[in-house]
Amino acid sequence: MRQRKIKDIESKLSAYSRFLVADPASRRGVWRNAFSCAGTGDANANSPRGRSPLYLELGCGKGQFIIECASRDPNGLYLGFEGSENVLYRALLRADAADPANALFCSVYVLDRDAYFAEAELSGIYLNFSDPWPKARHEKRRLTSPGYLAGYGHALEYGGFLHIKTDDDDFFAYSRAGMEALSDFEIVARTEDLHRSVYARENVMTEYERKFLNLNRRINYLLARKVSVE
Ligand SMILES: C[S@@+](CC[C@H](N)C(=O)[O-])C[C@H]1O[C@@H](n2cnc3c(N)ncnc32)[C@H](O)[C@@H]1O
Repeated sequence: MRQRKIKDIESKLSAYSRFLVADPASRRGVWRNAFSCAGTGDANANSPRGRSPLYLELGCGKGQFIIECASRDPNGLYLGFEGSENVLYRALLRADAADPANALFCSVYVLDRDAYFAEAELSGIYLNFSDPWPKARHEKRRLTSPGYLAGYGHALEYGGFLHIKTDDDDFFAYSRAGMEALSDFEIVARTEDLHRSVYARENVMTEYERKFLNLNRRINYLLARKVSVE
């Protein structure tokens, strides 16, 4: 169901500017510096913070996953990118309540040709319950289409990971085939039933995941590591 646009959304978002990165294009190569505003102090490349692992959730929704990851891992830096301002607003409200020092958000709808990150800048990318775009003519919009996968390969450091969770079997098969076709990624974990697998214990729940579990749907999970440099 399409959500109605929240009135005066721009100014509502700006009220939470301490959790918002407004100019993602200009952060390429220096994303870690953005986190100094979160009270972590100097974040240049020579400071301990400047070497912290940097993780992205693309399509972070209402932020439950990324905020929980940030709280479990205070040494990591967590970025949530979300294409819907209405939805992002909910994430910012959640961030305001939880007050993480190491999570930031961006109002941005990422296209497959976008390059918001420098080569090897990211340590991990999370794709949780990405829109499956089942029609063939929408393939380019899938967050695991070849254009996006090439971008992730460029942005991830050696050993960095791509994590995928989805209830959609067709999207999962498509994503898996895309990963297997790439020589710079190796699939290191995979299950078609995450919540009845060894990976369940470490799992961080997302909003959509909770909904699908309540409907007794199986959750697919895949973890791939970058194994070669360009
Ligand atoms: C199905 S929801 C899943 C939200 C959350 N990850 C979860 O698991 O609860 C997918 C979200 O991804 C966002 N999204 C889809 N494509 C995107 C893109 N290219 N760039 C940024 N956000 C995107 C949508 O606006 C939506 O909020």
